[in-house]
Amino acid sequence: MPVPLEVKERYEKLKAEIEEHNFRYYVLANPIISDEEYDKLFKELLELERMYPELKTPDSPSQRIGGVVLDEFRKVTHSVPMLSLDNTYNEEEFLGFHERVLRNLNSTQVDYMCELKIDGVSVALRYTNGILTQGITRGDGITGEEITENIKTIASIPLRLRKEIDIEVRGEVFMPVREFARINAEREKNGLQVFANPRNATAGTLKLLDSREVAKRKLDSFIYYVIFPENYNLKTQEEALIFLKELGFKTNPHSKKQENATGVIEYWKEWTKRRRELEYDVDGIVVKVNEFELQRTLGETVRSPRWAIALKFPSEQKETKLIKVRFQVGSTGIITPVAEFLPVHLEGTTVKRASLHNFEYIKERDIREGDYVIVEKAGGIIPQVIGPVVEKRTGSEKEIVTPEKCPVCGGKVGKIKSDEVAIRCLNPSCPEKLVRVLENFVSRDAMNIQGLGEKLLKRMVDAGLLKDIADIYYLDEKKLRSLGKGIGDKTIKNLLTQIEQSKNRELDRLINGLGIPNVGAKTSKDLAKHFKTLENLMNATFDELLEVEGIGVDTAQAILNFFSQDEVKKIIQKLKDAGVNFGYQEKEKGGPLSGQVICQTGVLSRMTRQEFAEYVESKGGTFTENLTKKTNILVVGENPGSKLEKARQYGITIMTEEEFFEKY
Ligand code: IVH
Repeated sequence: MPVPLEVKERYEKLKAEIEEHNFRYYVLANPIISDEEYDKLFKELLELERMYPELKTPDSPSQRIGGVVLDEFRKVTHSVPMLSLDNTYNEEEFLGFHERVLRNLNSTQVDYMCELKIDGVSVALRYTNGILTQGITRGDGITGEEITENIKTIASIPLRLRKEIDIEVRGEVFMPVREFARINAEREKNGLQVFANPRNATAGTLKLLDSREVAKRKLDSFIYYVIFPENYNLKTQEEALIFLKELGFKTNPHSKKQENATGVIEYWKEWTKRRRELEYDVDGIVVKVNEFELQRTLGETVRSPRWAIALKFPSEQKETKLIKVRFQVGSTGIITPVAEFLPVHLEGTTVKRASLHNFEYIKERDIREGDYVIVEKAGGIIPQVIGPVVEKRTGSEKEIVTPEKCPVCGGKVGKIKSDEVAIRCLNPSCPEKLVRVLENFVSRDAMNIQGLGEKLLKRMVDAGLLKDIADIYYLDEKKLRSLGKGIGDKTIKNLLTQIEQSKNRELDRLINGLGIPNVGAKTSKDLAKHFKTLENLMNATFDELLEVEGIGVDTAQAILNFFSQDEVKKIIQKLKDAGVNFGYQEKEKGGPLSGQVICQTGVLSRMTRQEFAEYVESKGGTFTENLTKKTNILVVGENPGSKLEKARQYGITIMTEEEFFEKY
């Protein structure tokens, strides 16, 4: 059947419209329609493509969902070698570079473009007639791998430019720090090797052969380089950055021209201090001679250009003494070694423990109890033990032995999948596992039952009151009283009220509370929205699960496996009999923050930025990334950024985290 003209027109219009909203959301961070409206347009596009597959073009926003699974990546030769940069680490070294530049140019002054050095993975993007045709990794600088399908899932990379030109650009793909933390938490929970830092996570993600899996991990980009700028009449790097922005690329907003070395050093010092305000990792600044003509005069060596240099930030690592390694048993039985060390101050907080992730991690680095170790914060957030200071060993350090039985219940341990690095307690009724499952169920992100902390849950498990999550809804006064000491009338009344109220929580919270492997808060939301009831989700087939945006084959399989277990079916029936809500409720309007615009700065102790945004919205408020005069409340966490000063100037209500949560 030929495609009717009006369908074709509608399709073209939809494509353009969706990409425009995409651009406003991901590049400008200034959306003009709601998520629901966006979803509606997207659904219409998918429906048209389903009915008329011949409509589909390489620049269709539907490509961003991924779906193509490759066997391997094709090798591609770079049009111009992708060089790397020489590094400098302090003022003197930078001044050495500056003097060489002036000498070689036979000049006394030169303009520099200062840019942040994004700690990601560099890529080359080729556009033909304004359409993205190839995305290529750096590889060895001469040949890279074609990762076009993966690149298309990155929302800030345009599939179609605002000008119909042929061009090749380069830039950095990176993983925002919060996304890195989210993915690692999920990986640790699932017994997978965690990524050491956001850069490794980015590289690992871009190498995935299933682009649908790539789409799930929200990568982002900054583009900073035009190949053959003379073809577009560009004379300076400054002009190139403006041009890139005009084409629809996301460029870094903090780039700044400096007219002398002092200005460059000032810029470097400023960002050394401010780097943690950013939502992505930066490891220094890149200083580029601004004029392309002068760049050409300076030329390059085989390795790096003579017209640019990296000036790195001092790395924030500290040495401390590792006192003890404790073994923690998680909800799926995974035994995680946790290092406890003498407290050190690192990037604004005091840290005294860090996950060692798994026993391979310890072996690879040869970390021993009693060692002096180097610690740092990956992505500025998550404490990590980098490795031991071998020179300081006295011989009294103790090797960390992989446990042969569960440190809690004494049960057997082993691996359940060959590709796992994790070791698990295999005893299905290990009380520690149950406590973790329960903890997840009552947590703030799930059923949010306050007053049921780890200690109390443990007591209830030990007393035989809780054998699964559903038992929570069968607790009564008598059972609670039997716990004895410390459980008075008031506590009992509070607990029972909390438990009763939790029966009406949103469906996504229930799904998250079930503890399905691979399914965290975000996926639970997607599932709830898609399936509308728990029954629908339980009955979903593999293919139906794959239809949900962001669900890949692994997660789909994990969900199927989970619901096929008889014990799970029993528990769900028990939850249902108790009157727990199994249905999807559209977000309610109203609420204590209704009509209020809330903004955040610094790091909150109790939730991530994303979670905070959702919390605000669940209370009827609007969360915004940027502080404007319209903001009503600024909530201040640890290490606040420049928003705090701005809020003071505007006279906006400023609240600490504690004040805010007390009130709302
Ligand atoms: S320009 C020939 N600008 O740093 C010069 N690179 O260590 C090409 N990087 O491979 C690089 N931010 O992956 C440039 N604003 C920026 C950058 C940047 C990060 C990375 C890039 C490069 C590496 C060199």
